[in-house]
Amino acid sequence: MTTPPEPPAAPLAMAQPTSLLFVCLGNICRSPAAEGVFLHLIGLQGLEHAFRADSAGTGDWHVGRPADERMRSAAARRGIDLPSRARQITHSDLSRFDHVLTMDRQNLKAVRGLAGKGEATAQISPLTGYCRRYDIEEVPDPYYGGEEGFDRVLDLLEDACGGLLETLTAERTQR
Ligand code: 4NP
Repeated sequence: MTTPPEPPAAPLAMAQPTSLLFVCLGNICRSPAAEGVFLHLIGLQGLEHAFRADSAGTGDWHVGRPADERMRSAAARRGIDLPSRARQITHSDLSRFDHVLTMDRQNLKAVRGLAGKGEATAQISPLTGYCRRYDIEEVPDPYYGGEEGFDRVLDLLEDACGGLLETLTAERTQR
């Protein structure tokens, strides 16, 4: 008896969207920028149906606020909108999202600590692991620095989010 051939992988448009949560400390600088950069990239590639992106902070000081004005201006100069309002990460996020991407070691430790409190299915990883041009381990916090820090964050995020999108798109086509 011959074995029937494997069914073809589901086309990108039919598969469930891959969901991503970007996480930093305050959710007003780096993670809303990562969310905006990622949304911008999927928009350019017509992949809005395939991905869902959100962001959150490990802290609660800025809950409800839009992204920092300096971060929004730097992003707007690159044609990138930052639509988020700050919120604090919750334990349920760690099962609601497929991937949780952290900006620095402190965020990674905090998210892993939260994950240790119960069931958590999300894959938790540092966003900088997806950089292609930059050899760095953290996206530096620009909050207490000058304007150039916000541009540096965007340079790193454009690199990392491009690598992330490439990796996840390849994974989706292999499903
Ligand atoms: P973020 O930056 O973690 O990239 O949003 C920060 C924003 C605010 C503070 C720290 C970091 N803060 O201490 O208020």
